[in-house]
Amino acid sequence: MNNELNERVFSSISGIYDLFLSLATLGQISRWQEELLKCAEAYKNHLDIGTGTGEVLIKSKGGLKVGLDISLEMLKRAKRKESSGNFILADALKLPFKDGSFNLITLSLTYRHLPKREEFLKEAKRVLDVSGKLCLLDIARPPRVLVVLIKALGFLPGVLIFGIEKWRFLISSIEHSQSLDEVLKELKSAGFEPTLVKTKLFSLIFIACSRRSL
Ligand SMILES: C[S@@+](CC[C@H](N)C(=O)[O-])C[C@H]1O[C@@H](n2cnc3c(N)ncnc32)[C@H](O)[C@@H]1O
Repeated sequence: MNNELNERVFSSISGIYDLFLSLATLGQISRWQEELLKCAEAYKNHLDIGTGTGEVLIKSKGGLKVGLDISLEMLKRAKRKESSGNFILADALKLPFKDGSFNLITLSLTYRHLPKREEFLKEAKRVLDVSGKLCLLDIARPPRVLVVLIKALGFLPGVLIFGIEKWRFLISSIEHSQSLDEVLKELKSAGFEPTLVKTKLFSLIFIACSRRSL
């Protein structure tokens, strides 16, 4: 994945994104996002990275709430829904915040799209305060047979709805997603200690909250 492609694809599908996501998750996405926030427990300053159309931020009970994305079109949608929201156009790999600014960072369906996760985790650690939390909701790499099925059955509707380039992008992002074990290992080696891990939808979805270690 690279940022330029991410920005182009998400900007161009911003108009149908919410409907697509709701259908693709069988209406479960809203519940999972609520759970992501509950797993974070108490928090005050909340940064939602790859906020898209802002759904996690809208559900957040934070005092200071900031949504960040590289797609302006996604952010425009978010702003329309939550006119008082703080939305920032920026790259997850270069967070425009001072050290220790937040005590919660969330990423819903975004972590697997980041091109240099190691770099991102360093940035996340920097802008979190000591013992701040990083909570991820994402797709775990599905079994090969399921990818083949999605590719076969989804090809025609996928290409008709998104066009061939975007369909390939979406499939590739699923195909190349990490297993939950790989994500947890990556978090640990970047200095995050997992505090709560849950799986959903036959382990195809995970919620992983971790605490910044010193
Ligand atoms: C699948 S969408 C998820 C949107 C939202 N969080 C949700 O749960 O519906 C991924 C979002 O991450 C954003 N994104 C991808 N790479 C990014 C980066 N490097 N920095 C900031 N945002 C990024 C995309 O523009 C897109 O809005």
